[in-house]
Amino acid sequence: MKRGLDPKTGYARYAAEYDELEKFWDSFEQDKLRPYIAETKDMKVLDAGAGTGRVSLRLHEAGAEVTALDISPEMLAKLNQKNPEIEVVEGDMEHMPFEDDRFDMVFSSLAMVHLKKPDQFLDECYRVLKDDGIVVLVNIHYRKSMMLHDGQGRYTIQAYNHFPRHLVKAAEKLAFGVEHDEILTEGDDVWVSQVLVLKK
Ligand SMILES: C[S@@+](CC[C@H](N)C(=O)[O-])C[C@H]1O[C@@H](n2cnc3c(N)ncnc32)[C@H](O)[C@@H]1O
Repeated sequence: MKRGLDPKTGYARYAAEYDELEKFWDSFEQDKLRPYIAETKDMKVLDAGAGTGRVSLRLHEAGAEVTALDISPEMLAKLNQKNPEIEVVEGDMEHMPFEDDRFDMVFSSLAMVHLKKPDQFLDECYRVLKDDGIVVLVNIHYRKSMMLHDGQGRYTIQAYNHFPRHLVKAAEKLAFGVEHDEILTEGDDVWVSQVLVLKK
């Protein structure tokens, strides 16, 4: 269901404040990316939907050669201010501006929630990955839109709920192997995110 501003318009407005909630964004991962980030030394790694670089900066620190892709130039400008050595590319995760077999790993955290067609994104991951390449995804559970505010008023950004089981099926259909599929919860029952690791 369509809700709020499209991500390019929405994140143009939200870019200035995004980093204020870094701990909140981290909480969807519960530190589960750390071992995968640690493996990336000297690898060509794509961070898809990289935003202001929360994950890209950690990959860079681990020694990866990082390409940060995002649809929002305002979010990428923030990343670039923090570390101009990281390559930033403006573009759409569902139609990536990269040649086939380019990357050793693709990371994408908290961004799939904005995609209408996550299957199309998985297909693109398969295409841009080298053989035996790995995808590390954090699929957050969309329950209701965050209400954001700025000088122009209140707004939300379009988001969609992607059921964990659907993503696994879509990945398997593309011939990805599922290396890890973990549902992270809050309290006893409510799932907050899925950490999905796939191998080409
Ligand atoms: C919640 S932020 C996550 C940023 C970063 N990955 C992180 O974990 O902090 C979502 C990001 O996805 C980007 N995004 C949304 N739809 C996109 C698309 N179709 N292609 C590329 N980036 C997209 C937004 O511009 C935004 O920067």
